[in-house]
Amino acid sequence: MDSVHSRLDSARHAPLTLVVVGASGDLAKKKTFPAIFSLFYHDLLPDDFVVYGFARREMSDEEFREMILGTLTCRVIDGAKCAERMDAFLPRCFYHKGTYHDPATFASLDEAIVANFESRLTESVANRLFYLAVPPSVFAPSAEGVNDSARAKGNGWTRVVVEKPFGRDSASYATLRSALGAVLSEDEIYRIDHYCGKELVQNLMTLRFANAVFEPIWNRHHVESVQIVFKEPFGVEGRAGYFDNIGIVRDIMQNHLLQVFALLAMEPPVSLHAEDIRNEKVKLLRSVLPLAADDFALGQYAATADGKPGYTEDDGVPAGSRCPTFASCVLKVNNARWAGVPILIKAGKALDERVAEVRVQFKPVAGDIFGGRPSRALANNELVIRVQPDEAIYMRIVSKVPGLTSRMEEARLNLFYRHAWEESKDIPDAYERLILDVIQGEKSLFIRDDEVEIAWDLFTPALTEMEAEDSSVVPEAYPYGSAGPANSDMLAEKHGVRWS
Ligand code: NDP
Ligand code: BG6
Repeated sequence: MDSVHSRLDSARHAPLTLVVVGASGDLAKKKTFPAIFSLFYHDLLPDDFVVYGFARREMSDEEFREMILGTLTCRVIDGAKCAERMDAFLPRCFYHKGTYHDPATFASLDEAIVANFESRLTESVANRLFYLAVPPSVFAPSAEGVNDSARAKGNGWTRVVVEKPFGRDSASYATLRSALGAVLSEDEIYRIDHYCGKELVQNLMTLRFANAVFEPIWNRHHVESVQIVFKEPFGVEGRAGYFDNIGIVRDIMQNHLLQVFALLAMEPPVSLHAEDIRNEKVKLLRSVLPLAADDFALGQYAATADGKPGYTEDDGVPAGSRCPTFASCVLKVNNARWAGVPILIKAGKALDERVAEVRVQFKPVAGDIFGGRPSRALANNELVIRVQPDEAIYMRIVSKVPGLTSRMEEARLNLFYRHAWEESKDIPDAYERLILDVIQGEKSLFIRDDEVEIAWDLFTPALTEMEAEDSSVVPEAYPYGSAGPANSDMLAEKHGVRWS
């Protein structure tokens, strides 16, 4: 039995109800249901479980099952016996119409769970997992509904997964925090950031702390700069209602990229225990100097001659919106390991490619005996951790070209996952790992209360400055499908971050 199955073993016998609140939404359809089905397919759910979809619109159980079937995009869709497993999965799925603000509908959900499922169980302990796949404005009322009327009975646990963004600044997070804290204990809240569940992000700690070669050079004496980059080749396309109020800094930087940075730059934790890891992340984030508006370069994608739409043409974007769809900024860390090393984080939509990667660029060799390097690319070693697509870790090195000359060229020490491991053909989606961790009560990949607080404290002053009515910060237009605005390159250059 492998370790995932053996970890599940203790949880396997306790029946489980998974409630997806906001079941009709984009996230639920694209990620949550496919991940739950994939766990079922791999025999990673408890023997007795049911799935409840909860949302405001009218839907019968049959229609709900058809919706799940129609949106099945999970990695097992081509797997052996997928259709057979789906036939076994769907009868366990039910739909309950309700209103997020109305405790009475959570009470009727509770009655349905008891009548359809729990009353027929022989086990005395039945657990409940609520996944809040709803806009942030209804996190708090949904959590109140769960607490007032739909908690697990007796000794069963109740766990509530809350999606990002956790508020929109320090003040709104404080409000959300106290609203959630009034009805749920910190143990019951699972703040999800799906980047923490990505395979390569999980590998950051292994890479750093299970290999002797990296830690001695993982510091300001050897590292010249770090870049953490997220690029998407499509725009907001239909999500403007959410996005225009949020912007790229809150959508990607304050959570996904900051989490990657934290795992990349924190000190070694005392152990792999969730609290030890999260303590180190918080300590690091507290060492980052506060950000101001001029630490950022902002952009907004614009229409192109070949018919690609600009951001403001998307349905739901108010005319003249200044919402940034691209941002880059430089983090400065005031600690012994990183002082003076610029950490450039950059995120953008409607760019030229889909990529999420980390680039650790090392300082040039001291006392170079090769008489100068023929190109800038040959000056610095660089470790690249490509989170997606085509997961890989590689080091750019300088090598002698084979033959009778002494010509040097850049070469790569490669760890391409798809060549290295048979298993990499079947890398689980981040949401599978994270939902499994919730079932197992494993919190190390989830975000602790004080992590969110410090993350907002870092970004809020700059956001306030940039979003003020009279702010002079205007996102620079960049063509849909381009590499982004020129101001980002200027920011990088100003801080000595070199592209390679
Ligand atoms: P949706 O806009 O699709 O909303 C989800 C559901 O919530 C809708 O189907 C709707 O259900 C209900 N809803 C929508 N707007 C409101 C409203 N104003 N008041 C009350 N209910 C509403 O959101 P997503 O699924 O895209 O996102 C859900 C959460 O997940 C958000 O917090 C988002 O930030 C996060 N997230 C989303 C990702 C994605 O790829 N979509 C990725 C990572 C995180 P009904 O009307 O049937 O009740
Ligand atoms: C979500 C953002 O959190 O992450 C989206 O809200 C973004 O805007 C998505 O598209 C990217 O996730 P992934 O896993 O496709 O890189």
